Amino acid sequence: MSGVRRITVPGDKSLSHRALMFAALARGDSVLRGVLPSADVRSTAGVLQALGVDLPLQWGADDTLRITGLGRRGLRAPTGALDCGNSGTTTRLIAGVVAGHPMRATFIGDASLSRRPMRRIARPLSQMGAAFTFAADDGLPMTVQGGDLGDIDWISPTASAQVKSAILLAGLVSGCSVRVQEPTRSRDHTERMLAALGAPVIVTEDAVLLDPVDALRPLDVDVPGDPSSALFLIASAVLRGIALEIHNVGINETRSGAFPVLARMGVQLVFANVREAGGEPVADIHVAPSSGLRGTEIGGAEIPSLIDEIPMLACLAACAEGETRITGASELRVKESDRITAVVSNLRAIGADADELPDGMVIRGGARALQGAIVTHADHRIAMAFGVLGARGDSAVQLDDPSCVDVSFPGFWEALARLGSAP
Ligand code: S3P
Repeated sequence: MSGVRRITVPGDKSLSHRALMFAALARGDSVLRGVLPSADVRSTAGVLQALGVDLPLQWGADDTLRITGLGRRGLRAPTGALDCGNSGTTTRLIAGVVAGHPMRATFIGDASLSRRPMRRIARPLSQMGAAFTFAADDGLPMTVQGGDLGDIDWISPTASAQVKSAILLAGLVSGCSVRVQEPTRSRDHTERMLAALGAPVIVTEDAVLLDPVDALRPLDVDVPGDPSSALFLIASAVLRGIALEIHNVGINETRSGAFPVLARMGVQLVFANVREAGGEPVADIHVAPSSGLRGTEIGGAEIPSLIDEIPMLACLAACAEGETRITGASELRVKESDRITAVVSNLRAIGADADELPDGMVIRGGARALQGAIVTHADHRIAMAFGVLGARGDSAVQLDDPSCVDVSFPGFWEALARLGSAP
């Protein structure tokens, strides 16, 4: 087809964090390609370096990283606080790793991360035998005293891959048996990577079990493109009515629930050349030129698989015909910002019709021009979602902090601008 834009997106953020962590804990030399060079993943690299791992803090999207692992319990106690920047994944997963080592470490982060709930990992990790101290009620700074841990069978009240992964990593490091049950299945990257590295992991319908692990094999992995990043460019193509192909994107169904929602809204998407890379399903995504969007209902069991995509889906809903209702998504209130309030207040500020619900929002779409000032709260996904709306022909938005996109998608503004120019 002529006039089709062909692009790629940077590596998957969730997989990049995990690849660095597992490489650090493996026995031997790992080779990682496609690791996302974003601020959040650099936070993980910095924290691992502070724990004794020899790895770079800066790299390019095309670089190959070679990392010598220290073994599953070989990290060294840090000499200063572990700075996790803006990254919840760095904090919660590495807290699980530290909990299983005989060491003490204090986790700090930026203002947004410091406000986010950490007791959700402290509860299960304390039950396993680690000790947690909080400077305030919850959040950061948080000090973890790790040591010899015991087995756990944890029923998590929230579907959270970060909680599940913190427990799995604590079990891996300390050689314990762990079982984590969730109300709805959260993204399963950790259990897939563990299985690919030879760990005895069993996945049932609502739980993950890990038996004691002796040693972890090193990784040789190609990190695929990030589906969350891809969604922003797909949304922009839809709003501009252009055809787009994004090559090599992860389509793990515990993670890619936004794609069926787009289909319900009237977007024609095809997954071509579906294959597996490093234990994860990957495809080339073809998007046909859109001739209009309709509202939809988003809720229930699909929420964990699209939680990070709700800001963008809500902005698309503002351009759709009819109403979109999003429910069951109260977790949005404890992300990098309160994303329910941030999305609704910004939509209203640019002239869209939206209301908050305790656990979601209602957006009444329409064809009006959207114009005004956006408060990003330094939240990368708020910046990108409204940046996409602003790139629509008849819209004009000004963002207070466009640079915060570097948390997950370095080069986002350039990619968005390229979509708007001739193919
Ligand atoms: C992530 C899990 C999700 C997601 C976050 C990344 C991960 O958070 O929102 O952006 O890599 O495990 P929760 O596990 O808190 O739902």
